[in-house]
Amino acid sequence: MKYRQYDHKRDKKAVQRIWHEIGWLEKGKEEAVSLHIKSGRAIIIEVNNEAECCATAVPGGIHYLNEELPFSGITGVATSRIARKQGLAKQLTAMMVAIEASEGALVSGLGVFEQGYYDQIGFGTGSYEHYTAFDPSQLSVRIKPHLPRRITTDDWAMVHSARLNRFRSHGSCNLNPPKITKAAMLSTKNGFGLGYCDNSTNELTHHFWCGADNVEQGPYNIEWITFQTREQFLELMALIKSLGDQVHLVKMREPPGIQLQDLLEKPLRQYRVTEKSRFQSIVQAAAYWQVRICNLSECMAQTHLQGDKVRFNLRLSDPIDSLLDEKAPWHGLTGNYVARLGPSSGIETGIDKTLPTLVVTIGAFTRMWFGVRPATSLAITDQLSAPQELLEKLDWTLRLPEPKLDWDF
Ligand SMILES: CC(C)(COP(=O)(O)OP(=O)(O)OC[C@H]1O[C@@H](n2cnc3c(N)ncnc32)[C@H](O)[C@@H]1OP(=O)(O)O)[C@@H](O)C(=O)NCCC(=O)NCCS
Repeated sequence: MKYRQYDHKRDKKAVQRIWHEIGWLEKGKEEAVSLHIKSGRAIIIEVNNEAECCATAVPGGIHYLNEELPFSGITGVATSRIARKQGLAKQLTAMMVAIEASEGALVSGLGVFEQGYYDQIGFGTGSYEHYTAFDPSQLSVRIKPHLPRRITTDDWAMVHSARLNRFRSHGSCNLNPPKITKAAMLSTKNGFGLGYCDNSTNELTHHFWCGADNVEQGPYNIEWITFQTREQFLELMALIKSLGDQVHLVKMREPPGIQLQDLLEKPLRQYRVTEKSRFQSIVQAAAYWQVRICNLSECMAQTHLQGDKVRFNLRLSDPIDSLLDEKAPWHGLTGNYVARLGPSSGIETGIDKTLPTLVVTIGAFTRMWFGVRPATSLAITDQLSAPQELLEKLDWTLRLPEPKLDWDF
């Protein structure tokens, strides 16, 4: 496969054309695309001397319990209308994973257009995310928020810092380049933000960024909400409530660890009486992001679990291998390993005949390791098998909080 680095002068028009064709770029928002592409790495494949397939990625970090692991967020994969179904996107994404892994990413993640496609490159499906849509006047938060400050697209640098410094939980990721936040803010329709700064440092401590199709009555879409303490989160929810005299519906992704329905008055009644309305209160769930381990030994070395230690043979298959030729800067993780999980975890290449064996794809292994689903469940629905006793030990050792990326891209 012949790919090359994106060259802004040469490829800008062709890549913008791809993004127009797939509906990611509205007229007048071209700056946001350029910012997005220039924030990290972009690679393309040419057809007849023009870029017809493009993949972008940015560096960041991902929380595994209390450890921060180097992360690569694959922020876009797109093939133009004339170059579909030739395997370009699959091969280019595989190459992007290989380059990013060779440069230090331990874990890679992306948002999917559909389940199954990126499994072919070794990705495994993440947790369900809950999208809630509620009438802000029905929030039960009683506190009175302080007077907030307005946040506009000019505040992108401060907003980015606030995102990086937000409260983090297991699975949460950061994308490091500040211009990725600027691009996201510029692409938000009717975007506006409200938040609070620390008086002494002027740091933006908590805020939300929001868009709306209909500014007058909503729905408003909270693109992200960041906070560092419980009190700050509740203050932001009180601020959202304060918009409720005018705005009939607010949509937001549930922040990690929060059950938003707890903060709503008579939520079940609201779900019933607003059914099929333009302002329907509802909670919907979907698993739309995927992750994969790129560096197994480093990920295992940074895995510190509280349960008992468990040792096993790991027979791992990685479908990315077949998509990368020998010139690729990194290759997949297919192999036989002896693995241990516990307070101190690790792997070595080889087989120990005295141990039970886990046979698994890298996608399913990543899901188990990350805590998306326990081993006994993955043995039913994914490509993972092992003796029942080992599955149960793995369940016990890998009792993790539900992972949430907490940053859509
Ligand atoms: C998704 C997209 C990048 C694929 O581009 P592409 O270059 O045509 O993809 P490929 O040729 O590598 O793969 C297409 C193959 O995957 C298969 N495929 C599609 N969805 C699949 C799924 N959910 N599971 C498994 N296979 C799938 C197709 O059937 C096709 O197989 P075929 O050629 O045997 O018919 C392209 O449709 C696109 O640009 N869409 C809009 C942007 C987008 O949604 N990007 C992805 C989110 S980041």
